[in-house]
Amino acid sequence: MGRGIGFGKSILYGEHFVVYGLPALAAGIASRTMAVVNRSNKAGWTLDDRRPEVLGYKAKKMKEQKKSVELVIQAAGLDVSEEGIHIKLEGDLVCASGFGASAASCVSLARALNEEFELGYDDERINQIGFEGEKGYHGTPSGVDNTASTFGGLVWYVRDLNGGPPTFEKLKLKNSVHLTVASTGITASTTEVVSDVRRKKAADPRWFQGIAEEYDKLVQDARNALLKFDIKHAGRLMNRNHELLQELTVSCKELDDLILMARENGAIGAKLTGTGRGGNMIALAPDKETQSRIAGALEKGGSPLVYNTTFGL
Ligand code: MEV
Repeated sequence: MGRGIGFGKSILYGEHFVVYGLPALAAGIASRTMAVVNRSNKAGWTLDDRRPEVLGYKAKKMKEQKKSVELVIQAAGLDVSEEGIHIKLEGDLVCASGFGASAASCVSLARALNEEFELGYDDERINQIGFEGEKGYHGTPSGVDNTASTFGGLVWYVRDLNGGPPTFEKLKLKNSVHLTVASTGITASTTEVVSDVRRKKAADPRWFQGIAEEYDKLVQDARNALLKFDIKHAGRLMNRNHELLQELTVSCKELDDLILMARENGAIGAKLTGTGRGGNMIALAPDKETQSRIAGALEKGGSPLVYNTTFGL
């Protein structure tokens, strides 16, 4: 039996922009997916998916998941056409758009295969296999999700647009920062939303460039603010990042309502996280007490899944 884990993640700044080579900051969260692999004498692979989910997530992603499992097995260099495997997915990471559930399942499966078949892969290789698996969920992943899922912690990530290895750096802050994540309950299709942004960018490159140039300055500023532990400024930049994402048309009423609610209850910054048009939002809280107040308000306001975490250490 081989086992492996993949962390959930939350993008703090840079979803969508990261696809086009701009930096993103992502935080691994404590919840994780665990994959367990057993050999079987039946050819091919079978899957028992016991991960908790926001209603409808697994059914909506089933076709993509199948493709992804095959890509992971292939990228790991395994042939299951004669002797097969049985995969079990479990863990406390709730499958909901925005938590990096797809990346966590690819990474955990890569690790479990590595253990069961004694492949000797290091984290870099696991991350590459995770990236290949992510292609099953959407054709052109930036790689930020599988990187955060493999390494955890706070990650500065820049994709190489020429297909070379990405640049990424693990950052450590002076203290931990309180973050609340809340789901809209809506499962978004990353493929569809990323493709739509790509279409809009192609139709009006100058419009996209203007927004991207502002974002580029913003993310450098956010990195410095976090390293100086100027959380108020980091929060203001989150708010502005959300406005830029609204301009890209990837927010929606449900996200905007939760974001407003978080700000009204003491969040120093709030934005959508991940794909958008559903999925999750995040809120930066100045302290634990305010974090609890924000989480309570979001639950009352109708979010089916609210999650308090910290990042930075
Ligand atoms: C999805 O979690 C983040 C996106 O930027 C897509 C990607 O980075 O591959 C929307």
